[in-house]
Amino acid sequence: MKVLSGIQPTGRPHWGNYFGAIRQYIDLQAEEQAFYFIANLHALTTIRNGAELKQNSLDTAMDLLALGLDPDHAVLFIQSDVPEISELCWILMSGASMGLLERCVSYKDKVSKGLTPVTGLFTYPVLQAADILAYDSDTVPVGEDQIQHIEVCRDIAKSFNSAFNEEVFVLPKAKVLDSSAKVPGTDGEKMSKSYGNFIEVFESEKSMRKKIMRIATDSRPMEEAKEPEGDHLYQLFSLFADDTAVQEMAALYRRGGFGYGEVKKALADAAESYFAEPRQKRAELEANPDQVVQILGDGAAVARRKAAEVLQRAQLACGLK
Ligand code: ADP
Ligand code: TRP
Repeated sequence: MKVLSGIQPTGRPHWGNYFGAIRQYIDLQAEEQAFYFIANLHALTTIRNGAELKQNSLDTAMDLLALGLDPDHAVLFIQSDVPEISELCWILMSGASMGLLERCVSYKDKVSKGLTPVTGLFTYPVLQAADILAYDSDTVPVGEDQIQHIEVCRDIAKSFNSAFNEEVFVLPKAKVLDSSAKVPGTDGEKMSKSYGNFIEVFESEKSMRKKIMRIATDSRPMEEAKEPEGDHLYQLFSLFADDTAVQEMAALYRRGGFGYGEVKKALADAAESYFAEPRQKRAELEANPDQVVQILGDGAAVARRKAAEVLQRAQLACGLK
């Protein structure tokens, strides 16, 4: 598989992002080709502060590296360090139909949430198509909300190939991330940046514990037995603890006679030890930003070589070269 995915540098990852997406990207790094990039050109439609975008991009790279993305296996780079993408984007834009983009729900969603309807937001799926097609990727791991963009990418690639009568672009497939385990937030609803119910992977232990202790629970009397499955504290605990500890916790729920405070403490301990190593790695990277810059530079060099090759195929086919 030739895997590629992009991550917008729009904030620090929370538990939902980690279990729902990042961990699954990292698991795919052993594939034949794995390209991961920080989508700063996409983020430019929403972050209108240069220093912030730059810092967020570096932070996101450090987060991924600390969480196990290994530059010996995967190519990690910043989207804008591959200028071929912007050129390919224009070539694709010249053939992408308005109707195709008008049907994309993410544009309408974002505008309805108050984002300014700028051109870049509307043509966002074309830039995403350039990202995917530039590296001959065949597999794109994404959340459900991005499936439509992969379909748009396939449509754009197909119509280019057929217009110029050549198989210039590889048609990619979405690999939909396993969202069966929707990570609940501190209020029991889906964890999300927009609901203010999140716990960040790298937030301080003190603040993490505080948030865990404030997780909403029902007012069940302590001695009552309970089925663990539907309980969000139990669901969170299951993400971090090993099988034996999870089974013991399930038995405790079914037996009853304990307080939620105990579960919260067990959850905090489990989360703390689960992220202890990434946390330490993160601190090391932070103390050594040159190393991160070097990794991103090496990644960009590899990505550029590949993108230049694909761009040239497209240029030759459509008469730009
Ligand atoms: P947010 O809702 O916090 O803005 P994003 O939409 O940026 O999160 O999510 C990025 C990725 O993280 C998506 O691919 C999504 O599948 C995953 N994700 C986010 N929140 C959760 C969650 N609570 N449970 C599982 N996966 C999640
Ligand atoms: N649009 C994706 C998101 O918001 C990020 C992204 C940009 C991407 N380019 C990509 C994802 C290419 C997969 C492939 O999450």
